[in-house]
Amino acid sequence: MRTQVGIVGAGPAGLLLSHLLARSGVDSVVLEARSRTYVERRVRAGVLEHPTVELLREVGLADRLDREGMRHEGISLRFDGGDHRIDFADLVGRGITVYGQQEVVKDLIAARLDDGGDIRFEVSEVTIDGLADSPVIGFTGADGRREELHCDVVAGCDGFHGISRGAFVPEVFDRQYPFAWLGILAKAAPTHHELVYANHPNGFALYSMRGPEITRLYLQVPPDTDAGTWSDTQIWDELGSRLAAEGFTLNEGPVIEKGVTGMRSFVAEPMRHGRLFLAGDAAHIVPPTGAKGMNLAIADVHVLAEALVPFLRHGDESGIDAYSDTCLRRVWRAEHFSWWMTSMLHVAPDDDPIARRLQLSQLRYTVASRAAATSLAENYVGLPHGVSP
Ligand code: APR
Ligand code: PHB
Repeated sequence: MRTQVGIVGAGPAGLLLSHLLARSGVDSVVLEARSRTYVERRVRAGVLEHPTVELLREVGLADRLDREGMRHEGISLRFDGGDHRIDFADLVGRGITVYGQQEVVKDLIAARLDDGGDIRFEVSEVTIDGLADSPVIGFTGADGRREELHCDVVAGCDGFHGISRGAFVPEVFDRQYPFAWLGILAKAAPTHHELVYANHPNGFALYSMRGPEITRLYLQVPPDTDAGTWSDTQIWDELGSRLAAEGFTLNEGPVIEKGVTGMRSFVAEPMRHGRLFLAGDAAHIVPPTGAKGMNLAIADVHVLAEALVPFLRHGDESGIDAYSDTCLRRVWRAEHFSWWMTSMLHVAPDDDPIARRLQLSQLRYTVASRAAATSLAENYVGLPHGVSP
């Protein structure tokens, strides 16, 4: 088998890359370890930055997103018993859209398959060789047959636990946080129209949603928590305490999904090794507090597609040579923002009284100063793709 770009992983990064390349006449094959049903049902985050939505619109992927996505023009920070809105529309003239990552994945798969795209689900034993000049991806297909995919370049879009990062020895920057998030999806109508990030002495809580009938909620918990040890009643009680504010009521309902997510800041440098290009979670992880994971994956493949097209058409290497540095600038900006939001909103296990006062001071300043609120808003709605500060 032969293709121009061999893509490992059918998450948002791999699927969007395949779509962007196809629009420029570049062919690709996507190899995915899981089944289509599995990747379409995997519950992940759901905040799309402004530049993400603009790109999806520009490349014809936003029909359902424009119908069903929820436009938000701000968020609330809740602390010390008070609620403080950060008005994105006023501060930076842009907003975000709440639309589940698995909805983006469904739209991408449908668009690729409608267009004759080649996605192989349920592949195993994926190997990558020949990265100096003529890459070959080995894999076992869903039918058990061993295959070889020869390509010009390989895109490693196989997430944090994938194999492509292991094809070389990048320098790794890794920090784990001493807490995790217990997340639930509940069949309960949202009672508030925007996201609420709460800093409470018991720990952080986040109020989000997925649609007119579904609320998405998170609680800070210790890192090795087993989700099964929290009963639904305990979860609702704790959410009620941590999110409490005047005039706010939480609609309770059946919990339809429950899971624990670890919190980590991780970057692998560089994001390129010969003919292999890493994108998305394969190269970097952010703690979810800034809602940046999927957006970074999308920004990476936007830059990558624009670099690969001139390379594959007429051997122009300038874009692929700049790929890693260009992406890493934006990645580190998002790493900083996600770390900053995380540090400002979570309670450290040692509950250091100085740290607590510093957090409250930062929160008060962020909501009181237009300059500070604008910085939060600008980072939250998303910096432009390509070159970053
Ligand atoms: N071979 C083929 N596919 C693989 C392999 C492998 N060896 N290992 C992992 N995969 C697949 C996974 O099953 C997954 O579907 O690669 C895909 C990677 O997708 P994501 O994890 O969604 O990563 P990415 O596309 O970079 O998107 C980043 O995902 O984790 C969230 O918060 C993160 O929202 C962000 C987004
Ligand atoms: C979500 O809706 O799942 C969500 C929202 C905001 C975040 C993280 C997750 O910061």
